[in-house]
Amino acid sequence: MQFFTKRLGIGILALGLVTVLSGCNVRGLFTSYGDDPVWVDPNAATATDAAAADAGGPGKAVYGRICAACHLGSGKGVPGNNIPPLAGSALATGDARKPIGIVLHGLRGPIERNGVQINGQMAAWKDQLDDQQIADVLTYVRSAFGNAAGPVTADEVKAVREETASRTVQYTEAELP
Ligand code: HEC
Repeated sequence: MQFFTKRLGIGILALGLVTVLSGCNVRGLFTSYGDDPVWVDPNAATATDAAAADAGGPGKAVYGRICAACHLGSGKGVPGNNIPPLAGSALATGDARKPIGIVLHGLRGPIERNGVQINGQMAAWKDQLDDQQIADVLTYVRSAFGNAAGPVTADEVKAVREETASRTVQYTEAELP
């Protein structure tokens, strides 16, 4: 009887181990390779790339955690409430030094966007976000919401950060680097 109980105990232990191990790779257990596309239309490549770019990468997480609170997940902002859109923003998608400067040191109005007067204040994020996070979030902003500007690198952010290190107040549009 004692022997049987011991066997039962080991059996339960083994079962538990298998459950725990499979729990680590639940997706792997249930992945059906039949779901993988067998043939890819070469003309669909552009749409796929755009979707991948829109999917965001690491910058999307930073955007969702910080920027979306004001500029919204859609990047449309709330112009009536002094928050400009990032979708179609010339500043966000132009020379990368300007949006880098904005995220590092902030921006204050007045500005005019799409015929709407905006007089808001965006705070500096230089102490909360490192060079890589700023590069990631701007790379996301520049490729999401219908925007189509190139990526920003951590080296570019580092250079602007060093160059503007003595700045202590937000930029106005005219003062941007
Ligand atoms: C607390 C609200 C708030 C948050 C959070 C915020 N912003 Fe802003 N942002 C603003 C406001 C307000 C302005 C416009 C200020 C003004 O009136 O000039 C602005 C302006 C901008 C602009 C210039 C857009 C243009 O076309 O003029 C960019 C680019 C930008 N923000 C990027 C970001 C990014 C990237 C993040 C996240 C790291 C972020 N903002 C987080 C409020 C915010």
